[in-house]
Amino acid sequence: MNDHVPLKKLHIKTYGCQMNVYDSERMVDILRPLGYEVSDKPEGADLVLLNTCHIREKAAEKVYSEIGRLREMREEKEARNEGRMTIVVAGCVAQAEGQEIMHRAPAVDLVVGPQAYHQLPELIARAHRTKGERLSADFAPEAKFDALASGSLAADRAVSGPTAFLTVQEGCDKFCTFCVVPYTRGAEWSRPVKSILDEAKALAAKGVRELTLLGQNVNAYNGLGADGQESTLAKLMYALADIEGIDRLRYTTSHPNDMGQDLIDAHRDLPAVMPYLHLPVQSGSDKILRAMNRKHGRQAYFDLIERIKAARPDLALSGDFIVGFPGETDKDFEDTLDLIRRVGYASAFSFKYSPRPGTPASGMPGQVPDEVADARLQTLQALIIEQQQAFKANLIGQTLDILFEKPGRLAGQAIGRSPYLQSVFVEDAADLIGQIHKVKIVANSNNSLRGELLKVLA
Ligand code: 5AD
Ligand code: SF4
Repeated sequence: MNDHVPLKKLHIKTYGCQMNVYDSERMVDILRPLGYEVSDKPEGADLVLLNTCHIREKAAEKVYSEIGRLREMREEKEARNEGRMTIVVAGCVAQAEGQEIMHRAPAVDLVVGPQAYHQLPELIARAHRTKGERLSADFAPEAKFDALASGSLAADRAVSGPTAFLTVQEGCDKFCTFCVVPYTRGAEWSRPVKSILDEAKALAAKGVRELTLLGQNVNAYNGLGADGQESTLAKLMYALADIEGIDRLRYTTSHPNDMGQDLIDAHRDLPAVMPYLHLPVQSGSDKILRAMNRKHGRQAYFDLIERIKAARPDLALSGDFIVGFPGETDKDFEDTLDLIRRVGYASAFSFKYSPRPGTPASGMPGQVPDEVADARLQTLQALIIEQQQAFKANLIGQTLDILFEKPGRLAGQAIGRSPYLQSVFVEDAADLIGQIHKVKIVANSNNSLRGELLKVLA
C-alpha cells in the first residue's frame, strides 16, 4: 500500500457456521484493495461488518445488542473527531430481516444479504453518500462466486496456515420444517468444478494442505464439470486430491439422503478424504423425523452408517441434534438417546429447538416447555461428552498423522489436528507448522490430546 494513503480499519464479527467464516474472509479480500486493513477490535474501526446468523433466535438477537454497543462506539469516535464508523449488517439476518433491521436499528448504514457480497465496494461507497442504503439481496449465487473467486481474487486470497475453507455449494432444497436455511440461503446451487479447482490451486500454492469443502448440503454437490457433465462431490474430491500439495480433504455439512455410493467409495479409495463425517440426523424418533420432514427414518440412518463404516471402518462421526421439537415426548427423546448410544459419536452439536418465524414447525402444536427442553439438552450433552471422551481415550497409544497448524500456548509447542479432527499438541515442534507428521498420542488433556513426534514424513 502507498505510504501516503492511510489505511482504513475494518472489523468483521462473524456469527454462526463455517460458511459465514468463509464469506467473511472473502469480504476482507474484496475490501483490502480499497485500503482496508483488518482490526481485531471494533473500537476506532472505520467499517464494522457483522456477518450474522439466523438459525436460532439467540443468534439473531445477538446482532441487535451488538449494534447497540457499536452505536456508542461510533458516537465516541465522532466525538474524538476521528471520522465516521460505517456499520454494515451482512449474512442471514440481513437476508431474512433486512427491513426490520433498518427499522429497529437506525444506526445501521447498510444491510447486505449473502448473495450480494461482490457488490460490497459499490454499496459501501453509496452508503457513505446516502446514509441508510437498503439492499434486498436476490439469489444470484453464480454472480457472487464469479466475482468472489475469479482468478485474481482467488489468487489474492489471504491464507492463514495450512488449512482453508472452500465453499463449493450453497443453499438448501430440503425444507426441514424447523430450518430457515432454505429461505435465507436460497435454493441449492453448486459452483462449477473449474472455479473450485482454480481457487484450490491458488490456495495450495500458498501452502494450504487441507481443504474443508463447505456447503449447506455439500454432498448434494452437482456442479458443472469441464466435460459439460454434472460432477459429484466424490468426483470433485478426486480432482482436488490431484492438486500438488493438497493432502487432506474434509466436507461439511451432509444430509443422509445425499450420501451417494461414489462418495462412500471415496472414503475407502481416496486417501486424502479424512475419516471423519459430519452427518446430522437431528432426532432418533421416527415420528419426529417425519414431523421435521427429514425424509428418512432412524433405520435408514443406521443402515447408511453401516455402509459407510464398511467402506472405512475407522470413520469417526459427528452430528447435530435438536431437542424439544414440537410434539417430542419423553419416549421420542429416549429414542434419540438410544440412537446416539447405538451410533457412537466422536463429537456432536446439540440445540434446543428454537421456533423460527415463517418455518412450518413454528406453528405446530405441542411446543415443548422450556424447562423440559433444557433438561433434555443437558442429558443429551452429558451423553455426547461421555462419548467424546471415550473416543479420545481410545486414541491414546495410537500413531496418527497430524497436520501442524499453529504454535501452541507454550514456547516450542505446535498444535495440529488428527484425521478425526481432535486438536493435538506436541512439544518442540514449532518449526513443523504446515507439515504432516506421525505422532504418537500419549495423553488426553482437557480439550486436546498430547502427542509425541515419531518421524518426519514430509
Ligand atoms: N432450532 C434449533 N436448532 C436448529 N438447527 C437448525 N434450525 C434450528 C432451529 N430452528 C440446528 C440443526 C442444524 C444446525 C446447523 O442447527 O441441528 O443441523
Ligand atoms: Fe436446514 Fe434441513 Fe437444509 Fe440442513 S437440510 S440446511 S437442516 S433445511
